[in-house]
Amino acid sequence: MFRSTILLFLSAVTSLASSITWSDCKVNTTVPVTCASLEVPLDYTDASSNKTITLNMVRLPATQQPSKGSILVNPGGPGEGARNFVLETGEALSLITGPEYDLIGFDPRGTGETIPFSCYSTAIERDLAAVLSPQQLTDSDTAPGLSWAVNRMLAARCYETAGDIGELIGTGFVARDMMQIVDALGEDGLLRYYGFSYGTALGATVAAMFPDRMDKVVLDGVLNIDQYYSGSGTQELLDTDSVYEGFFKSCIESPDLCPLARHGASATNLSNTISSLLEQVKYNPIPLGYTLPTELVTYEALRTSIFQALYAPNTWPALATLLDAALLGNLTAYVQAYNDINGLFSSAGNVFPEKQGTEALQGIRCSDSNLRASNLSDIEPLLRAYEATSYVAGAQEPIPVVIPCVQWKMKAKGAYTGSFSNVKTKNPLLFVGNTHDPLTPLASAMNTSAGFEGSRVLTVNAYGHTSIAQPSLCAARAIRAYFANGTMPDAGTICQPSVALFPPPSASISSILQPLNHTRRADGDEETRLLSALGRVHRGRVGGATLF
Ligand SMILES: *[C@@H]1O[C@H](CO)[C@@H](O)[C@H](O)[C@H]1NC(C)=O
Ligand SMILES: *[C@@H]1O[C@H](CO)[C@@H](O)[C@H](O)[C@H]1NC(C)=O
Ligand SMILES: *[C@@H]1O[C@H](CO)[C@@H](O)[C@H](O)[C@H]1NC(C)=O
Ligand SMILES: *[C@@H]1O[C@H](CO)[C@@H](O)[C@H](O)[C@H]1NC(C)=O
Ligand SMILES: *[C@@H]1O[C@H](CO)[C@@H](O)[C@H](O)[C@H]1NC(C)=O
Ligand SMILES: *[C@@H]1O[C@H](CO)[C@@H](O)[C@H](O)[C@H]1NC(C)=O
Ligand SMILES: *[C@@H]1O[C@H](CO)[C@@H](O)[C@H](O)[C@H]1NC(C)=O
Ligand SMILES: *[C@@H]1O[C@H](CO)[C@@H](O)[C@H](O)[C@H]1NC(C)=O
Repeated sequence: MFRSTILLFLSAVTSLASSITWSDCKVNTTVPVTCASLEVPLDYTDASSNKTITLNMVRLPATQQPSKGSILVNPGGPGEGARNFVLETGEALSLITGPEYDLIGFDPRGTGETIPFSCYSTAIERDLAAVLSPQQLTDSDTAPGLSWAVNRMLAARCYETAGDIGELIGTGFVARDMMQIVDALGEDGLLRYYGFSYGTALGATVAAMFPDRMDKVVLDGVLNIDQYYSGSGTQELLDTDSVYEGFFKSCIESPDLCPLARHGASATNLSNTISSLLEQVKYNPIPLGYTLPTELVTYEALRTSIFQALYAPNTWPALATLLDAALLGNLTAYVQAYNDINGLFSSAGNVFPEKQGTEALQGIRCSDSNLRASNLSDIEPLLRAYEATSYVAGAQEPIPVVIPCVQWKMKAKGAYTGSFSNVKTKNPLLFVGNTHDPLTPLASAMNTSAGFEGSRVLTVNAYGHTSIAQPSLCAARAIRAYFANGTMPDAGTICQPSVALFPPPSASISSILQPLNHTRRADGDEETRLLSALGRVHRGRVGGATLF
């Protein structure tokens, strides 16, 4: 008792001074970031081991010095590093979080250069593409069995080649890593955090594990935390089809800007036209040229492009062009649109090393998940439930997650086993949810928020994944006020988006804004800066390249 009191006291004293040294990042960027690393325990559950790993961090300094402290950010995934995210979006993001805070991105263990989870090889990736992708998205009766068997092989290979790492990269350990960073920063010992998508599962976990150490925590694009860990829920796809409907509706409303509108008299009619196109190319793909995969219109290519585009309404004009070109057989337009949609989710231009693909996603997600099954029939009901929840994504969403995860051989060490209800945090959390989010429905924000006392959900009446997918000045202001002084939006606040769904092509950010009358406000200049910042965050990567 006495001994632990001394230890607590010592750690309280040492936390007053920063033990992190920030220095030049030595990377090619004009963003004024500095870099640092921090040694943390490899295995928090093994008190006898002194093995450590290195967390890599970047910091974007507050524009208004002296800084009031740091906000950690996480872009989601899981499997995404936060260093590249801060380089790409930090300057814009800091206009939302406020000028008084430093932003810090660290690559969670399992990603970047911190025990990256890796078990495929180039040959495996090539073979997977050949074996799985043409069949697994087609509603063929042989596809699930093939997918099950191939993932059994992969799970065995990942266990054999990376089994030791696979149990050390779960969210419970990452949460502890975050608090090590907070300690080492030597600020007030409290966590300030802005997490997107999977970053909300990480945020809910750290808040439940260390409730008395939470300062301002914003969780945006929220997962149902119980379903994330149980692995057996389908709520994530609850609103996916409503986003798809919104795409057709807004296309029909802007026929001058949406060429696809010529193929239907109403949103329903247009939607039917595309359903027929999908059925057609399922059995008769359309060869437009002679280069694969871009010049062959297939069921998989269209389904994948549609689901991806639903994340980010700024790709909707490209999606409309893609579908229009497929219907008309226009090769040039089709290839351009295909590259526009898939390019947004590419990692080209990453400054810090980061392996892309599904390995880190599966490595983290599957070891976190509690669901296991010994054969395909065990999970048939879950696969049917996914299909019943969403026409657009019900068949494809479980493939890279459910089928591998239920066969995964590693389980995360140090997982949080406590409750996610009646959590009493030192300061209340702010949750943010869109009314039409294809992966993190508002219902999940409501559900997870219900477990955190005093927390509130800010609703944004917008489309896409997380509140920066269709920027809202109102939401950005509310988030900034919360970070500034803990001001909560009024209960039931619904923010409207500030950017139209089908803006004129290559329009400036100010001209695509819906009428906000913002120039008449006293702080008009500042507001314009915030809006153009939202536009830039919007064009950056949002919430993970693959699934979350
Ligand atoms: C640095 O980045 C700029 C802009 O992306 C690029 O034009 C330039 O070639 C890069 N320089 C080096 C040395 O990589
Ligand atoms: C780590 O522990 C091992 C044995 O438990 C010991 O030999 C070694 O000196 C320790 N290393 C450090 C840096 O403390
Ligand atoms: C679209 O509407 C037109 C006119 O109402 C109708 O003739 C056509 O069959 C509809 N197409 C589809 C795919 O629903
Ligand atoms: C195909 O699309 C391009 C735009 O990408 C357009 O310039 C061209 O006129 C279209 N061709 C036809 C035959 O419609
Ligand atoms: C699947 O595994 C379960 C046990 O998890 C078993 O009860 C069931 O009989 C198996 N079904 C088939 C088709 O092998
Ligand atoms: C949240 O979702 C979980 C999992 O679906 C469910 O068990 C729980 O009852 C929900 N909680 C609330 C408050 O709705
Ligand atoms: C909190 O900060 C916001 C944004 O800076 C400001 O508008 C608001 O007046 C502040 N509220 C209080 C209570 O200080
Ligand atoms: C903007 O101002 C115009 C003219 O004063 C007014 O008619 C319109 O309703 C205002 N729009 C908004 C969104 O406040």
